[in-house]
Amino acid sequence: MAGNDLIEEIKALEQNALIALDEAQSKESLEEWRISYIGRKGALTSILRQLPSLTPEDRRLLGSIGNKVKTNLEQSFANAEQSLTKSANTNGNPSVDVTMPGRQISIGKLHPTTQILREICDAFVGMGFQVVEGPEVEWDHYNFEKLNIPKDHPARDMWDTLWIDYENDNREKSMLMRTHTSPMQVRIMENSQPPLRVLVPGKCYRYEATDATHESQFYQVEGLVVDQGITFANLKGTLYEFARLLFGTDRKVRFRVDYFPFVEPGAEMAIDCFSCSNGEGCRVCKGTGWIEILGAGMVNPKVLEGLGYDPSIYTGFAFGMGPERIAMLKYGIDDIRLFYSNDVRFLSQF
Ligand code: PHE
Repeated sequence: MAGNDLIEEIKALEQNALIALDEAQSKESLEEWRISYIGRKGALTSILRQLPSLTPEDRRLLGSIGNKVKTNLEQSFANAEQSLTKSANTNGNPSVDVTMPGRQISIGKLHPTTQILREICDAFVGMGFQVVEGPEVEWDHYNFEKLNIPKDHPARDMWDTLWIDYENDNREKSMLMRTHTSPMQVRIMENSQPPLRVLVPGKCYRYEATDATHESQFYQVEGLVVDQGITFANLKGTLYEFARLLFGTDRKVRFRVDYFPFVEPGAEMAIDCFSCSNGEGCRVCKGTGWIEILGAGMVNPKVLEGLGYDPSIYTGFAFGMGPERIAMLKYGIDDIRLFYSNDVRFLSQF
């Protein structure tokens, strides 16, 4: 027989075999099917036996088609055998076990930093603050100069700065990644009139070696209040209320003198440890009973003057905090690097 006819024959055989396989619904009929189609004396074998009588070209062609058909039929047979055993095990009932637990669908969540930022903003919005944002690439002018930190002032060492590769007309590096959110105090006072009550969440950057408590990129939340007759009592009351909202109504607060060039007097605020509570000291508060959570102070009259505000009429207070640090305290996280290393095992806990 010629090669072409055999190819037709083998294709027809494949089709018929698959139809017959569908109909074979018992062990016995499956076995009969196997013998008659792919067995040693079966239909496929008898076609392939004719290979040697063909021209070498036809032989190669038919050989390869024959192999494919053989594999297909063998595989289909194995599948049919398997599904027969399966349905036998379920006594002919459909093989769906409705008592099996469903597949778990993992749900996306807000990043812990986003969650804590929202909590902080909510606390201050409730006290009448307005939320604004500012640029992360900043001028020296706003980040330092206007905040009473002139060039060569030793206080610049408090902020290890990442400078942008750019020089102004005086060939000075004047552009940087903001090292804190305080430059927004200046931008806000420049552009608006008191009464001011604003909150500035945003990313900051420092040229810093990374460790468990330092990251070179982190968030800050800045607060600024300016009006006539604002006093240190307003600062204390506002921040006390904030601490109670975030850390519980029993919190006590402690203010101690601290130095920041743009506030006078400056203070650092701590809350009593919510972990050991009775002040005996634990790991969270490093044995002191107190946890420092932010820097604050009365806006330095020099800063007000530099922006054209008369300090004998207007006074104000400002504060700045690290939301990651607040989240670490609140949720007992001991390494700041976890926030931005994208480990789902960490992120899915919040
Ligand atoms: N900007 C200061 C810092 O980065 C924090 C601060 C803000 C202190 C406002 C006082 C007032 O450390």
